Amino acid sequence: MESTGPSSERKAAKAKSSTILKKIGRKDLKLDDYEETIAGEIIHPDDIDVQFTDIGGLEPIVNSLRETIIYPLLYPTLFTTSSTLLGAPKGVLLYGPPGCGKTMLAKALAKESGATFINIAVSALANKWYGESNKLVAGLFSLARKVQPSIIFIDEIDSFLKERSRGDHEVTGMMKAEFMTLWDGLLSASDRILVLGATNRPGDIDSAILRRMPKRFAIGLPNLEQRLKILTLMLKDTALESDFQLLLLARRTEGLSGSDLKEICRNAAMMPVREHLRETGGDRETLEKGRLEGFKLRPLTLDDFFVSDAATTPLPVPAADRSRIDDFDPNADLD
Ligand SMILES: Nc1ncnc2c1ncn2[C@@H]1O[C@H](COP(=O)(O)OP(=O)(O)OP(=O)(O)O)[C@@H](O)[C@H]1O
Ligand SMILES: [Mg+2]
Repeated sequence: MESTGPSSERKAAKAKSSTILKKIGRKDLKLDDYEETIAGEIIHPDDIDVQFTDIGGLEPIVNSLRETIIYPLLYPTLFTTSSTLLGAPKGVLLYGPPGCGKTMLAKALAKESGATFINIAVSALANKWYGESNKLVAGLFSLARKVQPSIIFIDEIDSFLKERSRGDHEVTGMMKAEFMTLWDGLLSASDRILVLGATNRPGDIDSAILRRMPKRFAIGLPNLEQRLKILTLMLKDTALESDFQLLLLARRTEGLSGSDLKEICRNAAMMPVREHLRETGGDRETLEKGRLEGFKLRPLTLDDFFVSDAATTPLPVPAADRSRIDDFDPNADLD
């Protein structure tokens, strides 16, 4: 381990960061070792395949994100001309049950915000060597400053800065303190840097961290209208029976999240394929003919979405998890 340890890791980090800096048009930047390691976590918009229009039913949230995050980061003077009270918040939290689009929203922001997006994984900061995590945290903020306007995104922020085990307790404690100090440093400065967090366990977030994210967006389970929008998006390229009623499907999927909906659409789309395979008995010749001439599959019916198949039926969010979120007071710890 030792001979292939730090120095080869360093080399890899250096290579990765120089590729990314080139891609974002900033290869002129002089970075120290820690900043370089973090630079590997910058995401280029071209590498993201999600945009706001792919997200169903969250238009009000998208608009609000534009107004509270994107414009203040990109055009700060628009906001500060009339009052020094305005400007981008330094911390924003997306919270809600699993599979409802939080990560998707963050990705779309990365693609469309025009700000540098640093997607920092907890594992990228955690370093078992004494003091190293702190230097990485410092590197994160100084890099964010160099590439601003920038968004520091921490997905599953509940797990971040949390005690893991007795062994690394001290290290995480130090890292947390360092993180908060630097985060606070943003408040006074004119830095165009924002920390964006997402979680499905808002109740588990340290209250000191919560306080630093005064702008909070609840991304709940989709209601009827939202499910209709999500299903319309998901099925836009799928052949449906001519009298297929999307509204009926939306009605019958109450309680499902966006990712559950995706799953039932996928299962439904599988039905005609399965039938075709069964009809042909997997006969090579027939399949080969289909490959050349195009397969003729029947359009989907409503029933395809509700085939009971114990192995593939999506499970709704367990009530226990849901109540943790429903009980979360979005105004907790606000001064
Ligand atoms: N509003 C939506 N519109 C379209 N697709 C959605 C929507 N919500 C969820 N999905 C689908 O579900 C998948 C999972 O969503 P996402 O990763 O954003 O969930 P999440 O809220 O981050 O969940 P978790 O809390 O588990 O991380 C997406 O990749 C997408 O396919
Ligand atoms: Mg997520």
